[in-house]
Amino acid sequence: MTQDSTARGTSFFMVVDCVPSRRRIPPRQAPSAPPLRVRDAPPSMQDKLTLMIPGPTPVPETVLQALGRHPIGHRSADFQKIVKRTTEQLQWLHQTKHEVLVITGSGTAAMEAGIVNTLSRGDKVLCGDNGKFGERWVKVAKAYGLDVQVIKAEWGQPLDPEAFRSALEADTAKAIKAVILTHSETSTGVINDLKTIAAHVQAHGTALTIADCVTSLGATDVPMDDWGVDVIGSGSQKGYMMPPGLSFVAMGPRAWQAYGRSDLPKFYLDLGKYRKAAADNSNPFTPAINLYFALEAALEMMEKEGLKAIFARHARHQRATSAAMKAIGLPLYAAEGHGSPAITAVAPEGIDAESLRKEVKNRFDILLAGGQDHLKGHVFRIGHLGFVADRDILTAVAAIEATLQDLGLGKVPTGTGVAAAATELARG
Ligand SMILES: Cc1ncc(COP(=O)(O)O)c(C=O)c1O
Repeated sequence: MTQDSTARGTSFFMVVDCVPSRRRIPPRQAPSAPPLRVRDAPPSMQDKLTLMIPGPTPVPETVLQALGRHPIGHRSADFQKIVKRTTEQLQWLHQTKHEVLVITGSGTAAMEAGIVNTLSRGDKVLCGDNGKFGERWVKVAKAYGLDVQVIKAEWGQPLDPEAFRSALEADTAKAIKAVILTHSETSTGVINDLKTIAAHVQAHGTALTIADCVTSLGATDVPMDDWGVDVIGSGSQKGYMMPPGLSFVAMGPRAWQAYGRSDLPKFYLDLGKYRKAAADNSNPFTPAINLYFALEAALEMMEKEGLKAIFARHARHQRATSAAMKAIGLPLYAAEGHGSPAITAVAPEGIDAESLRKEVKNRFDILLAGGQDHLKGHVFRIGHLGFVADRDILTAVAAIEATLQDLGLGKVPTGTGVAAAATELARG
């Protein structure tokens, strides 16, 4: 069975007004187009799911096999070896000499841990908000009673580093304790300029940079120590090429100093406990042991590919996907030049994006992501994060083109998008 098959016999394709700008999405109109015929893949071919969403991402066979091993005792010497090895691998991935701690939980656990371990009640923080995950930072910070000053940008636009610089320079009393932001804003497919913002925070002198790198780590260069990022949170189901279940928090020395002062409530997410256990190659609570097996295998694969090659692959896929969508007349949602290497958000004009996404799933068992919140129906998103090869990009583009053709919605000859993607992929 498909996971989200569309009801038949209804007019599910609607002609929506052309989106006048990415800022103002008009309300969806009543269906006006007649029902369109689309062939579903036969049931026996609906067990061939290809994930092209920004998480969970596809998992390599080697990693799945590692996952399927018998669990071992989490206080055993064998498990300690795995913790030691994965800790070194995680430091390599984060390009840091400092601790990278592993929590059994999803990416949001890492975000929350970043806040509760470094801040205190009533602390003033600057939160970047240009999408769903920026909004989440604001919610987490407010849930812990922080004094949040939001620095906003329109969805689809990047955060403006200058806005951070001026707020930090104006803070002569050094009241701002942290700048909190999302590096790759998954909801809009925008990459924020973490490097420049972290440099402004360093110039401030006392504030910390706390970054959600959930869909940037393992996709693009995030040299934690070089950029002076104090806390980085990420999750296993993204660039790590693993199933969901582990989250990671990297903490630099300034973050640990702040930990000493922090009075926010914490128990399971108290990173002091994780740090103490890590010194003994252990974990304070029963960890997801099989996910550690998978982590070791996935990071080994990543080490073999090499960081530069991994980043180049993601950049190539972002270029190829963007070029293909533009070539077939589907505008991108993210502002030009600010597309995330993990995900491309597409805002088709005059086509219900949600229906198109569902038809691609029904016909080809390729799962694209939908738009979130007010972007539902207006945007679909193509994930190219983690275990994604050139052929996956070509297949996804071809499937989108074939679906448009089948629905009579193609604006250019079918194959135009594949040709554009192939040209970009050939550039390397
Ligand atoms: C940028 C970003 N931050 C945070 C999260 C939350 O992660 P999780 O759903 O693993 O808690 C996600 C998930 O998609 C994300 O893309």
